[in-house]
Amino acid sequence: MTTLFDPLKLGDIALNNRIVMAPLTRNRALPGQVPGPLTVEYYTQRASAGLIIAEATQVSAMGQGYLDTPGIHSAEQVAGWRKVTDAVHAAGGRIILQLWHVGRISHTSLLPGGASPVSSTSRRPNAQCFTRDGFVDVSAPRALRDDELPGLIDDYRRAARNAIDAGFDGVEVHSANSYLLEQFLRDSVNDRSGPYGGPLENRARLLLEIMAAVVAEVGAGRTGVRLSPATTFCDTPLDSNPQALHSHVLDRLSALGIAFVHMIEGETGGERAPASVKPPIDYAALRARFNGGWIANNGYDRQMAMDAVASGGIDAVAFGRPFISNPDLVRRLRDNAPHNDLRADLMYGGGAAGYTDYPALGAA
Ligand code: PHB
Repeated sequence: MTTLFDPLKLGDIALNNRIVMAPLTRNRALPGQVPGPLTVEYYTQRASAGLIIAEATQVSAMGQGYLDTPGIHSAEQVAGWRKVTDAVHAAGGRIILQLWHVGRISHTSLLPGGASPVSSTSRRPNAQCFTRDGFVDVSAPRALRDDELPGLIDDYRRAARNAIDAGFDGVEVHSANSYLLEQFLRDSVNDRSGPYGGPLENRARLLLEIMAAVVAEVGAGRTGVRLSPATTFCDTPLDSNPQALHSHVLDRLSALGIAFVHMIEGETGGERAPASVKPPIDYAALRARFNGGWIANNGYDRQMAMDAVASGGIDAVAFGRPFISNPDLVRRLRDNAPHNDLRADLMYGGGAAGYTDYPALGAA
């Protein structure tokens, strides 16, 4: 029987165990959106994870929606990330980068020249983002023209190349949690006509073109994607048929041969089976459509994770908040040891407190 502590191959990426660190926004990038020495220490402390999926990272300056989140579009950012990946690899870990564009979840004060956020639509959600002045309502977006989309696809391709040049073992394209690619996927947001709007095949086109470009650039064996069919984060209602939409996406991703899918089950950071999702998403049916590796996420505890991997339905489990407060989460899961408490007020922004000062077992 497979356990959480057995090795796993996700495409070309060899994991020592099936415990994955989920991508977590921590808002500690230095000026220029560059990861600094504290970020090196933070990820190195967590290198016993089978795989670290480093925090959501902008593919372009236009992709930013929160203060002090890192990028992967400048030479300084690549150099900063290189220090992170070298240190994680020296500690025996594996690390990939999550490629992010927030789309309409942004504010003019965060964007180059005070630009408007861009999206599939010009409709503004009732959502907030975090700026120099604290939480503020997001700015009204501008709908991207179809002739701008090749440039956007190229931003993802270049970001994937930069990630590999920075020493990452692969990339995860962020197509979840209300950000740009979900703004194209869902008919609750995407109000376009033409090749990228209307039927689900058209709404999935941008994601699939980006995935094909990333695969051509860095290889299918180093490419994954994150999806969240049931999440309504940031005033983003469900698609009218999330099961059909995601079935199509997974069929096509399976044909592309990508390394893994990272599936958020239920509402991100919240209920695993929200009653408002009717009919409920059939995650097992989605999994059955995809040939590659499958990482499941959202609210798993030790027993649930062990049972899920033992049943063979999924290959690995991603933990978010438990990895913030427990740098040695793998050992604690193996030994069934108690966890440190999360200091939620220190999650976003600041320095070492609540970031690199959580003790490992025996080091209190
Ligand atoms: C956030 O910054 O709050 C955030 C970022 C990426 C996610 C979810 C939340 O996928």
